[in-house]
Amino acid sequence: MNISSRPFGVTADGERVTLYRLENSTGSIIELLDYGCTIRSLLVANREGRLTDVVLGYDTLREYEKNDGYLGAVVGRCANRIGGARFSLGGKEYHLAKNDGDNHLHGGLVGFDKRVWSAKINENGVVFSRTSSDGEEGYPSQLNIQVVYTFTDDNCLTIDYRATGDGDTIVNLTNHAYFALSGRGNVLLDELCVYANSFLENDAHCLPTGTILSAKGTPFDFSLPKLIGRDIGTANEQLDNAHGYDTNYLVGQSGKMKPVATLYSDRTGILMKVSTTQTGLQVYTANFLKDRAGKNGSHFGCRDAVCLETQLYPDAMAHPDWSSPVLKAGETYAHTTVYAFSLACK
Ligand code: GLA
Repeated sequence: MNISSRPFGVTADGERVTLYRLENSTGSIIELLDYGCTIRSLLVANREGRLTDVVLGYDTLREYEKNDGYLGAVVGRCANRIGGARFSLGGKEYHLAKNDGDNHLHGGLVGFDKRVWSAKINENGVVFSRTSSDGEEGYPSQLNIQVVYTFTDDNCLTIDYRATGDGDTIVNLTNHAYFALSGRGNVLLDELCVYANSFLENDAHCLPTGTILSAKGTPFDFSLPKLIGRDIGTANEQLDNAHGYDTNYLVGQSGKMKPVATLYSDRTGILMKVSTTQTGLQVYTANFLKDRAGKNGSHFGCRDAVCLETQLYPDAMAHPDWSSPVLKAGETYAHTTVYAFSLACK
């Protein structure tokens, strides 16, 4: 692995940001930023052998700082929505920052995606860490987080998340990369398969109602590879509310590594397989992504990419039967997700 680094600018608060570039023996490249623990670029060869950047990102730090959308970042302390931006833990009610109407989304106003992390290069990747203070965005207890990105010669990107607190708190971490395997937008033409039969019903604010629905035969059925655009325009309350897919699928047992999804672009031949130890997979078709200039003269907007966010079911504190985001003092939060890239023989 060839790993190098270079300055990527200085934040509005005067913090220096560094870009880490990892190139494996096949010439595939990943660029990571310590700002937001962000995947900025991921270049793999298409079927003609040309390197194709399969994630959305920006040219400058300023754009990462001012724009929403969480491009490529690690989101936390709790990914996804928390209804009413509040939860009870140990008999006490906690109030979190409201940044999505009345709700809390992806860690709040200044979530993990807007922080500069510490970084250390290792043999095949970068170890990012940060300490989230007691009370940050309303969360109780200090939390030490470590996120390790490992890139290997077989084009696998592994993300290992670990966290420990000095008191009880809640944690649900994920990466918010926008995948565009065609390298040039319109994700509706790409094929998605999700290894799940059911998903969480959402209310009008994209919060789970608590009802688990069967995907079979519905527009939400991705149990066999299907073009993302095939059913996205079907008249359906949840698709209408979210302007597309913004759906959490039940992908299996917590703590067990299993394949959960594949994404394929026939335009490039690039296939991505996602495996995780998590129980939920949020499929988000970039419904609210604004038209913007991206890296290297690119341009992107609504539905030009898809996020496949491995995480616990959202708002789980309001649903005591679901896998809990509670992390007790002294315990370790652990979650691993692998994105494996190859060329499909079709
Ligand atoms: C997630 C949510 C979406 C949206 C995006 C960020 O995937 O589920 O509703 O908030 O993040 O724009």
